[in-house]
Amino acid sequence: MSRKIWVLDTTLRDGEQVPGAKLNVQQKLEFARQLQQLHVDMIEAGFPASSAGDFQAVQEIARTVRGGISVTALARAVKNDIDSVYESIKLAENPFIHIVLGTSNIHVEKKFSRSRDAVLEMGVEAVKYARTLLPEVQYSTEDASRSEFEYLWRTIEAVVKAGATIINIPDTVGYAVPEEFGELIRKIHERLKNLNDRVMLSVHCHNDLGMATANTLSAIKNGAEKVECTINGLGERAGNTSLEEIAMALKVRESFYQSHTDLNLKEIMRTSRLLTYLTGLDVQVNKAITGENAFAHSSGIHQDGLLKNKEVYEIMSPEDVGVESMELVLTARSGRHAFRHVMEKLGFYAGSTDEFEGLFAAFLRMADDKKEVYDHDVFALLSAARKQSGGSGHLYELESLRVVTDDEAPTATVKLKREGVSLEDTRSGDGPIDALYGTIRALTGLEVELLDYKINSMSRGKEALGRVHIRLKHQDNIYTGKAMDTDIIKASAQAFINGINAVLLDTSEKEKKAPAGE
Ligand code: KIV
Ligand code: ZN
Repeated sequence: MSRKIWVLDTTLRDGEQVPGAKLNVQQKLEFARQLQQLHVDMIEAGFPASSAGDFQAVQEIARTVRGGISVTALARAVKNDIDSVYESIKLAENPFIHIVLGTSNIHVEKKFSRSRDAVLEMGVEAVKYARTLLPEVQYSTEDASRSEFEYLWRTIEAVVKAGATIINIPDTVGYAVPEEFGELIRKIHERLKNLNDRVMLSVHCHNDLGMATANTLSAIKNGAEKVECTINGLGERAGNTSLEEIAMALKVRESFYQSHTDLNLKEIMRTSRLLTYLTGLDVQVNKAITGENAFAHSSGIHQDGLLKNKEVYEIMSPEDVGVESMELVLTARSGRHAFRHVMEKLGFYAGSTDEFEGLFAAFLRMADDKKEVYDHDVFALLSAARKQSGGSGHLYELESLRVVTDDEAPTATVKLKREGVSLEDTRSGDGPIDALYGTIRALTGLEVELLDYKINSMSRGKEALGRVHIRLKHQDNIYTGKAMDTDIIKASAQAFINGINAVLLDTSEKEKKAPAGE
C-alpha cells in the first residue's frame, strides 16, 4: 500500500536565508498563496523572533493560508522565540511550533558551551513550554547526522516524553550519504514506533554534497513520514532538498517507494517561476524538473525517438508539472479574461475587484506602450504593483537620465523624485554604468555596494532585463533590483533604483513597531 508523505515547504524560512533572496511581506504572502495552490501540507513561514518584518510576514501568512494547511515558524529553545512563534501563527488553521536545538558534540560544546545534559534539559523545558501554548510541537535535532547516536536518541526520547509530536532529523551541513542516512532513519523509526507511534518522523536535508534529494528519498524508504523541502532547492549554501524533485521522484517511482504526496503537481512550474521572479535568483538551466532544459531534447536521435513514441526518452511529461507549451502574447485588445488568465497562470492572486481593475488599467497602459505584452512583462507589472502596495511610499522614481560615454570621462546626469521632490546630479565614472550608479548613489545618499550586475536580452531580443545585487556598506543583507526596458541604460538605472527601493522597504518594515507579544 502506498504511504502518504507529508510535505513541509520551508522556502520562506530556510530558503529565504539565501543572500539576495530577501522578500518583503507582500511577496511572501503571494508565494504562500501559491504554496496553497500547490497543496503542500505544511508551510514554515519564517523565523519571527529575528525581526518585526519577519513576524509580520508570518502573521499575515497564518491569517491568510487556508485549505487545511498547517503553518509553523522557527524558534530556538528559548521562551522568547517560542512566544514569538505562538503569537505570529496562532490564527492559522493548524498551527504548530517548531523548536530547534543542536545535538552534535560540535553544537553542544562550541555553540552552547554547556554539558550535554544541560542542553538536553533546555530542549525538554522548551517543548514543555510550547505544549502549554499549542497541541502540536515539532522538535529538530540540529546537526543530527553528525551526532553521537545514543545522545541523539536520548534527546528524542526525552522531548517526546515532554510532548513533542513531530521529530525532525536534519542533515544541517549536508554531510550525510544516502545509505548511512537511511540507516539512521531506520533505527530512529524503529525505536520511535515503540516509544510513541503517534509521533511523526520527519527529515530535513541540505545539499552540500549534492545528495539532499537522495538522502531524503533514502529516509522515506526507511520510514520517514514527512519531508522538509524548498522550491528550486533554494536554501543556504548549496540549498535544501528540492520539493519538485521529491514530488516527481515519488510520482514516477511510486511503486519502488510505495509512497506518494498529495501535491498538486501541475502547480510545480508555476510555483518555481513565481519564486524565481520574486527573488531574482535564476534556476540552473539543467536543474531537474524546473530547469529550462529539463524537458528539452536536442540530440537528433532523441528527437527522432520522441516523435515515434514519447515514452522512448520521456519518464514524465512537461504537462505533468504544469509547463504551458504556448505563451499567450497579450495586446491592448486582450480583455480582462485573458489578463486574469495570465495573471493566475503566473501564480499571482487576482485580489479584490478594485485591485484587479487597477492592475488591468496598468496592463492596458503597458500594452499601449509596448504593443505586445509577454509573461515576463506581466510578472514585472504585478510584482511592482504588489511591492508598492506593501511599501511605505518613500521610494525613488526615475524622472530622467542622460549618459554620455567616451574614452576619457563617461558622465551621467540623473534626475530622481522622492516624496514629490526632484533631485538632480551629474557624476563621471570608469564607464557609463559606473557613472550612472555613482550618480544615483550620490543622489540617494546611501552607501550602496554593487555586488553583481547583469544585463540580458528578453522578448526575443527586443528588450533588456537589468538585474543587480546590492548591499548597504557594513551590512549583511543582500537586495535584488530588476527592471526591463528597450534601452539598456534605462533598464540598468531602473534596476539599481529598484534595488535601493528594496533596501528602503525593508528598513521601513523593520522600523515598524513589533506587535504585542513579540
Ligand atoms: O538545517 C537545519 O538544521 C535547520 C533546522 C532549523 C531544521 O534548518
Ligand atoms: Zn536547514
